Amino acid sequence: MSVFPPEFLWGAATAAHQVEGNNVNSDLWVLEHVQPTLFAEPSLDACDHYHRFREDIRMLADLGLNTYRFSIEWSRIEPERHHFSLAELDHYRRMLAACHENGVTPMVTLYHFSSPRWFAAAGGWEKAANADLFVRYCERAARHLGDLIGMASTFNEPNLPMQLRWISNVDIPATTVLRTGRQAAKAVGSGSFGCFFLGDAHKLQDAMIAAHHRARAAIKSGPGDYPVGVNISLQDEQAVGPKSKRDKKCAEVYDPWLAAAAQSDFLGVQTYTRCRVGKGGDLGPEPGIELTQMGYEFWPEALETCLRYAAERASVPIYVTENGVSTEDDTRRIEYIRRALAGVLNCLASGIDVRGYIHWSLLDNFEWIMGYRPKFGLVGVNHQTQERTIKPSAYYLGEIARGNWIPDSGGRSEGGG
Ligand code: BGC
Repeated sequence: MSVFPPEFLWGAATAAHQVEGNNVNSDLWVLEHVQPTLFAEPSLDACDHYHRFREDIRMLADLGLNTYRFSIEWSRIEPERHHFSLAELDHYRRMLAACHENGVTPMVTLYHFSSPRWFAAAGGWEKAANADLFVRYCERAARHLGDLIGMASTFNEPNLPMQLRWISNVDIPATTVLRTGRQAAKAVGSGSFGCFFLGDAHKLQDAMIAAHHRARAAIKSGPGDYPVGVNISLQDEQAVGPKSKRDKKCAEVYDPWLAAAAQSDFLGVQTYTRCRVGKGGDLGPEPGIELTQMGYEFWPEALETCLRYAAERASVPIYVTENGVSTEDDTRRIEYIRRALAGVLNCLASGIDVRGYIHWSLLDNFEWIMGYRPKFGLVGVNHQTQERTIKPSAYYLGEIARGNWIPDSGGRSEGGG
């Protein structure tokens, strides 16, 4: 197969905290400003997307993309517990309307890592009763916005805390994490700080799977009739040696969430790289393989493997809701996109129901604890002037989207590195 299906969605993604700027009611804003902090730098104005969304959405559409994936920010919509801001809900209505005005399908994520600071102060996800608060926010947001939403995801990568337990190249001392949590709790006047990134991964997983199902029902009770799914972080897990813990890792990190996705309208697959797993867990990058700015192996073929893994476990439509590479060298991004999409074509040829490819990210943005250094954007951003510079990879993806095929496929070398 060399062409994509006619209705295929082509897009780019962002997340509120990473692009909007001044997300001051978020728990992450608190974590960025305590001492010690885990963050290389604070998010501050980010890409000022909060004010510049119209130009950004028009730019995405002009490139030839037909889908914009973005998140709505709980801590703006409900800045204080039980206080919903109509003005902020209207802000997101304007964003959704801007998508429709440009012929772009809005794919909305209701939770992308960030919680209101009051939610963290109340114990966050680890306190089971708090799921009610999330479900109620989903219900309220969907009631206000549902008629304009094209597709919705409850959570972005809710399996990430479990995945992080396995990762070998994160080098943050446990004592720093503890001290940060304590300082954050103090800053919000509480005895604890229940943040998505800092909690007990097992407790979080149980609470969030239950919350996902309830949130789906709440979202669907509102106006509009659109698919509601969940976006899962997947790596191409490769077993090394006879006693590899690869299967154990997959059973812990992916399978519970893929089972939850199987009971949803769609699954979002989010993949960046492969991971070699030995008998002691993750082995880290193989010497000699090209690394990205994140320290990941440059491995675009991971997408095909992950799509196949996911499709075997969740027979629902699949969208690639994130895939991309952090690099200053945009020619590597073009190569990454070309090879990742060749993998999507292979999956389509095998009959896997892949319905869209949403690249991470539209803009160079705030890469969480790593700050602004990693460059994932199809579009560069000068964070002083907020000037946007469209990179060749953006035109490349736009050309693929317009033609529904990969113009220069074939001929170049394949492989891992
Ligand atoms: C997240 C994004 C993040 C990207 C690149 C995903 O884990 O959903 O927010 O920026 O990966 O690291």
